[in-house]
Amino acid sequence: MGTGDLIAVSDLHVSYPENREIVQNLRPRSDEDWLLVAGDVAERLADVEWALELLAQRFAQVVWVPGNHELWTTPKDPVQLRGQERYEALVDTCRRIGVITPEDPYPEWHGAGGPVTIAPLFVLYDYSFRPDGCSTKEESLATAHAAGVVCTDEYLLKPDPYPGVDSWCRARVVETERRLAECDPAVPIVMVNHYPLVRDPTRVLHYPEFAQWCGTELTADWHRRFHTAAVVYGHLHIPRITWHDGVRFEEVSLGYPREWRRRGHPHGILRRILPVHQPV
Ligand SMILES: [Fe+2]
Ligand SMILES: [Fe+2]
Repeated sequence: MGTGDLIAVSDLHVSYPENREIVQNLRPRSDEDWLLVAGDVAERLADVEWALELLAQRFAQVVWVPGNHELWTTPKDPVQLRGQERYEALVDTCRRIGVITPEDPYPEWHGAGGPVTIAPLFVLYDYSFRPDGCSTKEESLATAHAAGVVCTDEYLLKPDPYPGVDSWCRARVVETERRLAECDPAVPIVMVNHYPLVRDPTRVLHYPEFAQWCGTELTADWHRRFHTAAVVYGHLHIPRITWHDGVRFEEVSLGYPREWRRRGHPHGILRRILPVHQPV
């Protein structure tokens, strides 16, 4: 058995100099620690590579999943790839620097509290976390536009070659379910995804219309169907721990400087997922 911890963080948003400085100072407690990075490292590919490479030099293993920000095609990025091609370029970058992605075999972690299978997931969202009274994606988006709460993804996240993020999401869900079903059911899984796999954590959003960009109902039973040790996610920028059907869900975001200056880091910046120290 290894002696390191399983650590997680997300939403590093290193295009902000204050966040870049935080990342420069992130260090493991032991050189056997693994780090799970649950998306939103940055928008520009060079910034994503800078942060992940730095972390990969410090941690025994880094595991990354994409957030919506990595998938944005912004005018400031010399890399103008869109959608699936952009995702593939990110995966290629990770492979070059030794970072595990959703396209790699799921690794097993053997520290205290293990063994667990680490499952980095990329399942996006499909506008199914709809506001009350909306029964379609179109109604849901219209409500968001009327409220003036429209995620920037609508302008910068290009789903090519899929007609929409929702169809890309459905394709990812099918493929991911197949891979999770192949996991050894005797070994618990730590799922890592940018979005919460259940809707409940989005109920506290300040703007309920924003939930439609935060996940999919298609994953609502995954933590019950598969032998799940914990679910690690980010995106909401609301760092906390919640329990769903007895399974621990950890929102591990750093968030924007204006957010962490206000609320601080209620659980620290690096979150230990295993071993578990609080009573379960
Ligand atoms: Fe974020
Ligand atoms: Fe995000």
